[in-house]
Amino acid sequence: MKFKVNSYHFKLLRDYERLSAFKEAIDDYAIRNGKNSNCSNSKVAFDLGCGSGVLSYFASEYMDRIIAIELNNSTYQLAKENLKEFDKIQVFNDDILSFDFSKLNEKADLIICEMLDTALIDEEEVPVLNRARKFLKEDGEIIPKGMINSAEAVFMNNHFIQYEDDEYCPIYISLGESVVFSEFDFMDEIDCNFSAEIELNIYGNEELDEIGFEEKLSQERFEKFNFKENFNIEEDKLKINGIKLTSFTKLNENIICGPTPMLNPEILIPIEETEVRCSDSVRIRLEYVMGAGVETIKTEILEIIHDVR
Ligand SMILES: C[S@@+](CC[C@H](N)C(=O)[O-])C[C@H]1O[C@@H](n2cnc3c(N)ncnc32)[C@H](O)[C@@H]1O
Repeated sequence: MKFKVNSYHFKLLRDYERLSAFKEAIDDYAIRNGKNSNCSNSKVAFDLGCGSGVLSYFASEYMDRIIAIELNNSTYQLAKENLKEFDKIQVFNDDILSFDFSKLNEKADLIICEMLDTALIDEEEVPVLNRARKFLKEDGEIIPKGMINSAEAVFMNNHFIQYEDDEYCPIYISLGESVVFSEFDFMDEIDCNFSAEIELNIYGNEELDEIGFEEKLSQERFEKFNFKENFNIEEDKLKINGIKLTSFTKLNENIICGPTPMLNPEILIPIEETEVRCSDSVRIRLEYVMGAGVETIKTEILEIIHDVR
């Protein structure tokens, strides 16, 4: 099948890892619930934020009726064209946040919603699901099922919010292991106002040796930005000025997909530049409004806990 797409949706389709994760989850749903099961009822799916229509196309193999909704008019036109041979798929040009689901006279067995963004910050996955979930059958399922988010302390060259995607490669150095700070199940109602206190551990001396920290700082990209000036290992003086968030999408109970170029690329968020020592812990507060954009992100360093060993 050939899809007509614009450049953004071309990149989404070219991201093979992203697509195969969703395809596998839809196939898995069909194996567990689909035509081959004993259930004879007709199966309805909602594809929310359908874009080019690719996920509706995957689901069309198993579902009897698919409602695909897309906000952007030119993208909607492409989806309509791409899916015109499929009588069972209805494409709507509408905002899901105001879409009248009750006019469909049917609830969904399956909601597919790829409106994801790293840590659920920028796209409307959460507000959209909070609304659409009311129109999911009691035994219905959502793909993806949820998300797990982790954070680590970093020192980065630019003090602004940066995504590490296929077009942009921020320069930073990790200063501690990543820790999980949130986990969401999309079957639950989720409060869009997110706030967490996160304790980030700074690497100890031996760990810095193990990751070759000093040698790394001699690499050309770090030399270019004078990273070395900010670290004096002998005097145990390090600096942090950011956190890196990494998201893992739970497509279902068994399929977890890490960042891909177009699915939740890692994000670097500035925090106040602060001196730390090896093995310190840094307690920070992270806040944002899910679906309202990166402008809503707030960070605050709450406490530096010095290692007393
Ligand atoms: C990340 S793209 C995914 C497209 C497609 N589902 C795929 O996986 O290739 C998200 C899509 O959701 C659409 N979208 C964003 N907000 C929306 C809203 N409130 N209502 C309907 N569609 C929306 C965007 O225009 C975009 O096409």
